[in-house]
Order: sequence, then C-alpha cells, then structure tokens
Amino acid sequence: MTNPQPEVADVLSGLRAVADGPLSSAVNMPSAMYHSDEVLALEQERAFGRDWVSPGLAAEIPEVGDHLTWSIADQPVFCVRDASGEVRTFSNVCRHRMMTLVAGDGNSRRITCPYHSWTYDLGGQLVGTNHMEHTDGFDRADICLPEIRTEVWQGWIYCTLDENAPSVAELLAPIEGFVVPYGVADYVPVHRVDEVWDGNWKFLTENFMEGYHLPVTHRATLGTWMPMTSVVFPDERHGAFTYQMFEKDENAVYGRAHADNDRLEGAWRSTTFMPTVFPSHMYILAPDHLWYLSLRPLGTGQVQLRFGIALAPEVHASLDDPEAWISEMVGFFTAVCEEDRVVVEGIHAGSRSPLARPGPLSWLEHELHHFMGYLADRLMASS
Ligand code: FES
Ligand SMILES: [Fe+2]
Repeated sequence: MTNPQPEVADVLSGLRAVADGPLSSAVNMPSAMYHSDEVLALEQERAFGRDWVSPGLAAEIPEVGDHLTWSIADQPVFCVRDASGEVRTFSNVCRHRMMTLVAGDGNSRRITCPYHSWTYDLGGQLVGTNHMEHTDGFDRADICLPEIRTEVWQGWIYCTLDENAPSVAELLAPIEGFVVPYGVADYVPVHRVDEVWDGNWKFLTENFMEGYHLPVTHRATLGTWMPMTSVVFPDERHGAFTYQMFEKDENAVYGRAHADNDRLEGAWRSTTFMPTVFPSHMYILAPDHLWYLSLRPLGTGQVQLRFGIALAPEVHASLDDPEAWISEMVGFFTAVCEEDRVVVEGIHAGSRSPLARPGPLSWLEHELHHFMGYLADRLMASS
C-alpha cells in the first residue's frame, strides 16, 4: 500500500486534529471517510488486517467439529472446535484450486471441499484426495490450510491476521474487571443471523456507540430504557476499545439480573456494559442477556453484520416455555435492529449529497470521538 493520495491525506489530517481536540468542539467525520475507496483500502489493510475481529462466541461452536465462517479483511476463514476441544481458525480456501471450503455453520469431523473432495482434518491437514497418484511429488502431508491466530477471551472468539499484534487479553485488560463479573462465557447462545445493510460499516459502528438516538429512533421499543444521566464513558481514550455503561431504567423489559444470579451485586444487577472492540466487534452485555454485532465491510456502501443473542444461564434454565420466550425476545431485538437499519441506511444515503456536511457532536456521542482517534491512529500509521 502506498501512502494516501493528497485528498485522503488531508481528510485524515483533519480527522487527527478533531480526534486530538476536545469532544466539546468535535464535528463528525466528513463524507469522504465513508465513501472513499482509498479510505476503505486503508481500513482493510491497517485496521481489519491488523486488529482483532470476532466471528462470534466460543459457545456457538461447543462440540468437536462445530464450525462457523467469517471473513477478515476480505479473507474467508472458518473457526472450528478441533479434536482437542480448542477453537482454531483456518483459511477457508482449498489448497487445490482455491474453492471456498465451508459455507455457513455446521459440524463435521472432516472438512471436505465441495469441488473435488479434497479432505482436511480439524487441524487443517490434508488427509484425503482422489486421483492424485500420477502427480509428481504430491504428498498430502505437505499440504495444510493456513492457520489464523485465534484467542478466546471471556467467551469471545477473536482472530487476527497479524502475528505481531498484542494479545487480546493484554489489549482488553482495562475492561476485564467490567466483563468478568457477568460470566459471559457461560451465556447460552439462542440466536444468530447474518445480514447485509446498505451503509458504510462505520455508520453502523457509530450508531451502536451512541445513545443519543435511543429516545427518538427506538421510541417504539427500548427508547426510554437508558436514563441519559447515568451514562458512564471511559475517562481517557484507549487504543483498542471504547465503551459506555448505564443502569437500565425500571421500565426496561430486559436488562436486570435474575433472582438466581449470584455473580452481580448492587447496581451491577441492573447495569449494562457496552464495549466496542475496534474495529468492528460490539456488544450489549446485560445481567440477563447479551446481544452482539460483528461487522465487516462489503465495499464502502454495504456492511455485513452478524447479530447474535445469548442468555444468562440462570435465565435460560428458568424458562418454562423457552421457545416462545426466546422467540418473543428475538423478535423484540430484531425490531430494534430494524429501527437501526433504517437510520444507518438513511445516513449513508444522506451523506452522499453534495450539500452534506458533518455537524457538531453531543456529549452523548463521546465514543464517536474515541473512534475517530482509533481511525486516525490506524489509517495514518506508516505501512
Ligand atoms: S478446489 Fe478443492 S478439491 Fe479442488
Ligand atoms: Fe440503535
């Protein structure tokens, strides 16, 4: 990657200046940050290609051979529970003629390519082939799928293409004390869906990070659940993440600890913690449930989002009619997501206008300011 062209270099310098200034005088990022192919290429190389992304929860692939697929900086990968029970990630591209190996979720003891049946074990080793006996020097033992660095942190699968990135545990140590008491690794996954929205991935990230829109966009669902006065943001900007947390209002339908929850005490029993792990993993961690988003850009104008829901174990165990209850909850949060889709796609469309200009931010948009700092750090870093 060469250095940014002058126009993009100017945009990034402006971003740096706003990020380094106070939030009270910050304006949102200019349209070029969302519509420039060059910015996207920098993001893929320097953010998605170097930082940690999360394809989901380790609990979503609990059994040996369970696998799920994702893509990191446009490289298809699959995560699999190997024969020893470890979560590992491999390139999802066959070493024969480069067919995509695995589609979606599944379980199998062997990964068999749908094109010519080359077959790999759960460690990525090629173990089965047909009709290769006349190929000079061919030895299955020489062929293995490239493995992607993977760590499981507090129940989350994280992968990176960068062998030299600091560990997830190290990067997220400052929020460990918030996440651990919820016991998220024991939450029970109940729903996961992948969707494509017509908007730049950063519009969705920013939408997640601010509660300013809740009373308006979500007035029909959870708009009143977050009392604005109780919102807490980090005191300083961290390089790998940002967050907000707040106590849910008493009228919140979801978000309070079950009576059998003996992990959380006092105000924590109604507190929701909402981290964004840069660039694209964000979740709402409540005492009774969790919902998460993991994003990947599909060009500048579309984003693939993975939307998952999990329940605290005592909530799941207490359900008399799990199917009906879960279906109602999933329906509720799906409606919330749909409300967000409308605004994310609306911002994307609006920001294309020649007259569009970014405006000043509210204090409730604190995390957007952190996000600008992260993007300036990454996109202006030398190759
Ligand atoms: S491309 Fe996979 S077996 Fe041929
Ligand atoms: Fe929203």
